[in-house]
Amino acid sequence: VKKVSIGLLGLGVVGSGVVHIINNHQEKLKHQLGVPIEVKRVLVRNLEKAREVDVNPALLTSNPDDVLNDPDINVVIEVMGGVDITKEYILQAFSAGKHVVSANKDLVALHGPELHAAAEKNKCDFYYEASVAGGIPILRGITDGLASDRIERVMGIVNGTTNYILTKMAEEGTSYGDALKQAQELGFAEADPTADVEGLDAARKMAILGRLAFSTPVDLKDVTVTGISQVSTEDIKNGSELGYTMKLIGYADFEDGQLEVHVMPTFLSNDHPLASVKNEYNAVYVYGKAVGETMFYGPGAGSLPTATAIVSDLVNVVKNIRLGVTGEQVVKNYHNKALKTPSE
Ligand code: NDP
Ligand code: HSE
Repeated sequence: VKKVSIGLLGLGVVGSGVVHIINNHQEKLKHQLGVPIEVKRVLVRNLEKAREVDVNPALLTSNPDDVLNDPDINVVIEVMGGVDITKEYILQAFSAGKHVVSANKDLVALHGPELHAAAEKNKCDFYYEASVAGGIPILRGITDGLASDRIERVMGIVNGTTNYILTKMAEEGTSYGDALKQAQELGFAEADPTADVEGLDAARKMAILGRLAFSTPVDLKDVTVTGISQVSTEDIKNGSELGYTMKLIGYADFEDGQLEVHVMPTFLSNDHPLASVKNEYNAVYVYGKAVGETMFYGPGAGSLPTATAIVSDLVNVVKNIRLGVTGEQVVKNYHNKALKTPSE
């Protein structure tokens, strides 16, 4: 590969961050990639909208074919969100031999195995580090860093919006509605924040984490979910008086062949490490049979943290292209076979 030409699907909060990092980290990226990098086309819905990031308006298009059928584009970065149309675009990209990086947990939680299979068939890469816990390299932590271990339990705060809301309610007495509005203004919330506040976004992330941690399929329908929309300032205050902090906790464990995944508001003792994770920050606790307790912490939402994960995925794609191993990054046993229950 002589040049990396990117087709960007979406130029919102995250897409703008991707362009910002590509524009501003050229020297580092050139060093990592060994070849120049350019954003060739950008798909948006509204061509008239004012853009906050420095992008040549001539690159913008509202026609997906301009990205998906451009033979010069070798990597598609999907940061538009949504499920059905987006899945079609990504499958089209794979058919055209383009590698895909995505931040889309809704899509990966629902159709990850099918998309992996399509990527593999077309010898394309498919990475989605940004889909779980924004800027924290948790998927790579699990699939690479802890590749040799048997992971038994994953638990954490994986939604930035709800953690922001709960923090503001607890520490500043902000109302639920005002705190949600702030999280939306800061770009943490989904286009429809229902998924955040009702725990669905966290459930999707826990499904992805469970799938990768335990190498077993996780059906979203099997994830029990309760969000924070019914949590009152009074509840939080009462807990606080007794030394507890309310957090939206995702939990996944796999024992004796039984998978359990749930998301629910939980009172944590104030000295629990997850109790001190504030605002949009996320933290994921992973217990491995050999390694014991590990904890991954960082910004779980927002433009630049999320974009960092995306552009780092892009670096991996290019490394794979140069090594001639694209399409091989699939976690083994990922989409069809569960590993045996962890045992000695
Ligand atoms: P935004 O709503 O800010 O941006 C979405 C972008 O996609 C916009 O530029 C929009 O165009 C474009 N778009 C949406 N639908 C279409 C369509 N059908 N055709 C063409 N263009 C379309 O979303 P975010 O940037 O916040 O999120 C993007 C993705 O990243 C989502 O999957 C989200 O879950 C995920 N994510 C978000 C994080 C965050 O902190 N915000 C963190 C981690 C993941 P236009 O600008 O013209 O409206
Ligand atoms: N809406 C999501 C959150 C974005 O608040 O965590 C990051 O995935």
